[in-house]
Amino acid sequence: MALYSEKVMDHFRNPRNVGVIENADGVGEVGNAKCGDIMRIYLKIDGDIISDVKFETFGCASAVASSSMATELIKGRPLSEAKALTNKAVAEALDGLPAYKMHCSVLAEEAILNAIGDYYTKHPEKADKSR
Ligand code: FES
Repeated sequence: MALYSEKVMDHFRNPRNVGVIENADGVGEVGNAKCGDIMRIYLKIDGDIISDVKFETFGCASAVASSSMATELIKGRPLSEAKALTNKAVAEALDGLPAYKMHCSVLAEEAILNAIGDYYTKHPEKADKSR
């Protein structure tokens, strides 16, 4: 059996939503101290909808594929759904990751949460409404 699913390879080779959003409403960055990989997520938010999302990932194939899939899963979705996105859901959407690569998908979950946290820090009035 191949180490990576076809979906992982597809999102690694043709990652969706790569790039930077200038004047993003929220930016989240996380790193994994062990492997040194870094992921940054940019959010554009209209009302409570994530109208655009982009990422930059300096990392392994699983981290790139996880970033790409995670951005696809939250694009156009409400903040409440993005907050609830788990790394397990990202891995499942990729038709699975090898067990020792699951930590790579955690970066995506954490980067999104950090970006939403950054948005709420900049817009505390929105944080109250969304809870
Ligand atoms: Fe570092 Fe995958 S090995 S995120």
